[in-house]
Amino acid sequence: MSVTTRQLDTIELEERVKRMYQEVALEPEHEFHFETGRALAERLGYPTDDLDQIPADAIESFAGVGYFLDLAAISVGEAVLDLGSGSGTDSFAAAIKTGSQGRVLGVDMTDEQLAKARRLAEDGGFRQVEFRSGYIEKPPVDEGSIDCVISNGVINLSPDKEAVFTAAARALRPGGRLALADIVSERQLPEGVTCDASLWAACIGGAMQRDGYRQAIEAAGFAIETWRENSAYRFVSERAANATQKYGVTSVSLLARRR
Ligand SMILES: C[S@@+](CC[C@H](N)C(=O)[O-])C[C@H]1O[C@@H](n2cnc3c(N)ncnc32)[C@H](O)[C@@H]1O
Repeated sequence: MSVTTRQLDTIELEERVKRMYQEVALEPEHEFHFETGRALAERLGYPTDDLDQIPADAIESFAGVGYFLDLAAISVGEAVLDLGSGSGTDSFAAAIKTGSQGRVLGVDMTDEQLAKARRLAEDGGFRQVEFRSGYIEKPPVDEGSIDCVISNGVINLSPDKEAVFTAAARALRPGGRLALADIVSERQLPEGVTCDASLWAACIGGAMQRDGYRQAIEAAGFAIETWRENSAYRFVSERAANATQKYGVTSVSLLARRR
């Protein structure tokens, strides 16, 4: 008897993810499997005072899955790395906390997101923010140069989450923080979901089982200090909502410290 194992086509996945987030950057008013924009950010817990200081065009393309900047507790003068910075909402929010004495580096692989974020940084006078093209599995940043790594709704999209956590640890100084929001699942997703590049690009197919996710963070050299469920996050399309219910796909925010 022969057993066939399906595999995720990572080249197709990268193309689909780029296509989806190109659309999020350029046509945020479209309907996606997930919510976007200011109403979502407010519901997730972003303080309105902070949102008011962030370029509105960045927030219209916000596609995060939770609030975690209270856990990050970024202070004036710090260096922050935003993995999968999109159109820049969290990078700009972090820049408000670091002030002009600090610096924020956003990394993303989708050209249209980068172009939009760069234009908004320039127009808004965010001189402490820089957006670089790159992959979150190998971000273009010096070793040990960062105080806090942040990320929102991105790591679930990576087929190599261990590499992302290892890269985050490498970028951080000892004692540095990793603060993020992401999608995980209660139960291991079946191949029909994990090998579906379109469900993966919609932030569902790549959701790692939560214990495995925690272990991957710890194996990269972090101690997890806070783990919080984000009940305010929900998927919108019927297909996404069904998979979410069936396998317990949820959003979490967490804080971990590099040992
Ligand atoms: C769900 S969006 C979140 C964007 C942003 N953090 C926000 O909250 O609006 C995911 C972003 O991660 C980027 N991305 C996904 N996988 C990536 C990878 N492996 N390397 C770099 N960027 C990636 C996409 O291009 C997209 O801009």
